[in-house]
Amino acid sequence: MPEPAPGGARVKLWDGPVRLVHWALVGLIAFSWWSSEDHLNWHRWSGYAIIGLVIFRIWWGFAGGETARFASFVKGPRAVVAYVRTVGRREVATTPGHNPLGALSVVAILLTLLVQVTTGLFAVDIDAFEAGPLSDRVSFELGREIAGWHELSFRVLQGLVVLHVLAIAYYFVWKRTNLLGPMITGRRALPSDPGLAGAPWWRLIVGVALAAAAAWFLSKGLRF
Ligand code: HEM
Ligand code: HEM
Repeated sequence: MPEPAPGGARVKLWDGPVRLVHWALVGLIAFSWWSSEDHLNWHRWSGYAIIGLVIFRIWWGFAGGETARFASFVKGPRAVVAYVRTVGRREVATTPGHNPLGALSVVAILLTLLVQVTTGLFAVDIDAFEAGPLSDRVSFELGREIAGWHELSFRVLQGLVVLHVLAIAYYFVWKRTNLLGPMITGRRALPSDPGLAGAPWWRLIVGVALAAAAAWFLSKGLRF
């Protein structure tokens, strides 16, 4: 890799919570996929953990460190088009965080995950034996229909993840930019230090508490 640039800085790009949420999502989504066939009890537990992670990531998108914040990476169409024009260039990418195009993929993955877990909560299996904890709030027919959306949303998620991994491989091979290393270590060499702001500890604690409480409450079918 031609990084770091001479005179550049080794920057803390992704904070611990972003990395932990990312790799936990990867593991749990794989587990949810596997357990969706014959282990629906485990599938639901894995799903509740994913609900907690997604809620935490959304909170962190407003309260977390600079590169985790939606406001720092979600850009308008103009910025996306301007970035797309540079995407074919064979040069090391130096955006300190998600680029405007990658940001679209991040938002799409998070939204699809929200659809995935919400439909799961209402889904009913064909024999009505297995079901999500909110399925008693809808008719059997609607629960079955929602199970169909749950399956469809998983196909969309699979497509997005394939694109996601292909994009990372493209950056590695064509743009000689290793995005994977920083998602593991948190650090990345950049031409200069962008002075990224971190987040105080209390926001992490509040986020974890909020996410865990919401996931627990949902697992109980919104009943105390
Ligand atoms: C990212 C999280 C999740 C993923 C990737 C996922 C994926 C899947 C897949 C692939 C199926 C099989 C669909 C089929 O072939 O019929 C399934 C079924 C099911 N899931 Fe999930 N799921 C997730 C979260 C949840 C959650 C949070 C719940 C509820 C707590 C849930 C409840 C169910 C139920 C009840 C079924 C059986 C529905 C049927 O048999 O048609 N899932 N899930
Ligand atoms: C179920 C599978 C996956 C999901 C749902 C997923 C989701 C995400 C999300 C939501 C982000 C944004 C991180 C944030 O700001 O919180 C992200 C970033 C990232 N993911 Fe994944 N990911 C998956 C699989 C993978 C795999 C297999 C790899 C390894 C090749 C990978 C490597 C990365 C990297 C390197 C980034 C940072 C990209 C950048 O620099 O902008 N992901 N992923």
